[in-house]
Amino acid sequence: EKLAAIGEMAAGIAHEIKNPLASMSGSTQLLKKEATNTPVARKLMDIVLRETDRLNVLANDFLLFARPGSDKIESVELSSAIGDTLELFRKNGICQNRITVVQDLAPEVWTEMDPKHTRQVLWNLLLNAAEAIDGTGTIQVSSKTAEDMVQVTVKDDGCGMSEETISKIFDPFFTTKAHGTGLGLSIVYRLLEPYNGRLDVRSRQGQGSTFTLFLNRIDPPGLLS
Ligand SMILES: Nc1ncnc2c1ncn2[C@@H]1O[C@H](COP(=O)(O)OP(=O)(O)OP(=O)(O)O)[C@@H](O)[C@H]1O
Ligand SMILES: [Mg+2]
Repeated sequence: EKLAAIGEMAAGIAHEIKNPLASMSGSTQLLKKEATNTPVARKLMDIVLRETDRLNVLANDFLLFARPGSDKIESVELSSAIGDTLELFRKNGICQNRITVVQDLAPEVWTEMDPKHTRQVLWNLLLNAAEAIDGTGTIQVSSKTAEDMVQVTVKDDGCGMSEETISKIFDPFFTTKAHGTGLGLSIVYRLLEPYNGRLDVRSRQGQGSTFTLFLNRIDPPGLLS
């Protein structure tokens, strides 16, 4: 309970930080347009913009972690939800000319979830997979049903993880990346909780990683029972 209160307070602060950040970023963007700016001034303003952007991402991530909120639980058809997210992901700069994303999705598989959460969970796993790949590589995303569950797998041929790293990946703020906040997988974990979803990890250093998501399967909506 105490922890929940602290979390709520931290979330409140993260939320309040976003307004001044937006003003700072907006003002700096206006200043940047001044014709009298020297190249050095411009460079410094770019630094301010980059860093306010980073703080904003951090505040958003933290909010998602502290207050996942599920206001819109719906029937979600996973092959199209995943397919749409993958289409966006392939166009993302992190993939361009570098990463091949292959998909093998079972059709007409339904789960009950806030669609925003479905996208966010998958996105965080995809980002990690892409960040684990140095140079060119492949991410394979597949789904299959297993009785009343559906299994979604995100597999990469990136750097993999040591046993020690694996034991910490769900700790909030644990990161091995220079610019990581270490919230990605903590958010995934938090988002899955209300749906009784589960995430399995298999990985070995130098041999890629496989993250498997287990979600509850429901009957296709609209069918008379
Ligand atoms: N697919 C993967 N391959 C190798 N290591 C991974 C993979 N996914 C996660 N990790 C390890 O787990 C750590 C925690 O991941 P998480 O997504 O929580 O944070 P992050 O990616 O470091 O930062 P953020 O997601 O907040 O930008 C990573 O720093 C990395 O060491
Ligand atoms: Mg991450």
